[in-house]
Amino acid sequence: MKRGSSPSELVCFTVLSLLSTMLGTACVQPYSTTISHTSNKNLSPKGFVDIISTGTRQIWNKKVPGTQMEKLRSIIQDKYGVKFENYWDFHEWSIKNYSQFWEEVWNFYEVVCSKPYDQPSRRIGDRIIDVEWFPGAELNYAENILRYRDDGVALICVDEDGKELNVTFAQMYEEVRLYAAAFKKIGLQKGDRVACYMSNRREAIYSMLAAASMGAMFGGPLPFYGPKTVAAIMNIMKPKFLITVDRFQFNKREFNTLDSLPEIVNDQEFIEKVIIIPTREGSKLKDISSVNNSCFLDEFLKRGRNSDGNIPELVFEQFSFNQPVFINFTSGTTGLPKGLVHSAGTFLPLLRDFGLHCNLDRTSVTLAMQPASIKQL
Ligand SMILES: *[C@@H]1O[C@H](CO)[C@@H](O)[C@H](O)[C@H]1NC(C)=O
Ligand SMILES: *[C@@H]1O[C@H](CO)[C@@H](O)[C@H](O)[C@H]1NC(C)=O
Ligand SMILES: *[C@@H]1O[C@H](CO)[C@@H](O)[C@H](O)[C@H]1NC(C)=O
Ligand SMILES: *[C@@H]1O[C@H](CO)[C@@H](O)[C@H](O)[C@H]1NC(C)=O
Repeated sequence: MKRGSSPSELVCFTVLSLLSTMLGTACVQPYSTTISHTSNKNLSPKGFVDIISTGTRQIWNKKVPGTQMEKLRSIIQDKYGVKFENYWDFHEWSIKNYSQFWEEVWNFYEVVCSKPYDQPSRRIGDRIIDVEWFPGAELNYAENILRYRDDGVALICVDEDGKELNVTFAQMYEEVRLYAAAFKKIGLQKGDRVACYMSNRREAIYSMLAAASMGAMFGGPLPFYGPKTVAAIMNIMKPKFLITVDRFQFNKREFNTLDSLPEIVNDQEFIEKVIIIPTREGSKLKDISSVNNSCFLDEFLKRGRNSDGNIPELVFEQFSFNQPVFINFTSGTTGLPKGLVHSAGTFLPLLRDFGLHCNLDRTSVTLAMQPASIKQL
């Protein structure tokens, strides 16, 4: 993962736990959160490292048998004729033999690709980042996320009022298919950008995967940012489409997105369409005419259907491992926010984190409170 260019501008290591759905894990996705960081109250003000190291205590020491970590470890021991005495031996091997290690992670999690890699990594310079990963491989980020298409629960969407809605893996796939078809109809192409400015909602996931299916990039500001910062981010990102909400609630506070939208989009000629998700009964009665080129979600999704009502098949265009997929923005505490590009291959470290380290599988549920974009500390 990359960081902002100055140390005071930290990209938080939060991960949209949707990515854990690659492991078939259900993800609880509250629209926003009421959890406050009460435990941070008495911390020294020095910084992130102090915060995470203060008061660290062991909360779990049960031995779980047959973890994914142990399975991978024994595969590697057998294959390479090595013997790891403990976790740190294995860790050392994994960083000294990083090419083999990531190749084994790739195989272990059965990365979906249409063309295999020529080699797991190739040095292209002397610096630590001068490595080309999995050259030759062709794959699609969204295809890897959407590998399960059954009736297991993929998303448990919960809002602050306690309303709950479940989305299965099959439903999620169908939604992405519809979003992709609609985006294609209105002109989204490889290399274009889709901006997202909304609270933590399932529509962000559908539009992100739809964009990734055809090689478009996805990203945007946190929903809490005001119109000036958001407009600045739009200017950097130059998205063709913006997907957003009329309003949202965070910690009982009401945020009215619609009011900010004219200032955000009306002078940005590159934004061809603003798609507004009506979040409540009655939202659709709101007047959106002050937002140039805007429409409600329904109208956008209607475009995805053929005249006979059918939805075209979802096509996963095939790209290299380093195909850009996300643009994540730094908080902008030192000047304008900076956009960091993450490639298709970013799901591999997440498999390491959620799979090897957290041992998540189809029986697990993870909580993701953060909206798309980085999370500000
Ligand atoms: C970058 O943004 C994507 C999409 O919002 C998210 O899934 C990912 O976790 C972000 N990466 C970081 C390092 O914050
Ligand atoms: C792993 O790294 C060690 C230390 O650099 C080296 O001796 C060993 O040959 C490597 N193993 C493989 C399989 O490449
Ligand atoms: C959603 O799925 C979870 C986990 O399977 C289940 O406990 C919950 O009752 C479901 N909620 C609804 C509204 O169906
Ligand atoms: C957006 O709308 C405003 C008035 O509502 C108009 O002056 C402006 O030219 C429009 N911008 C674009 C890019 O269409």
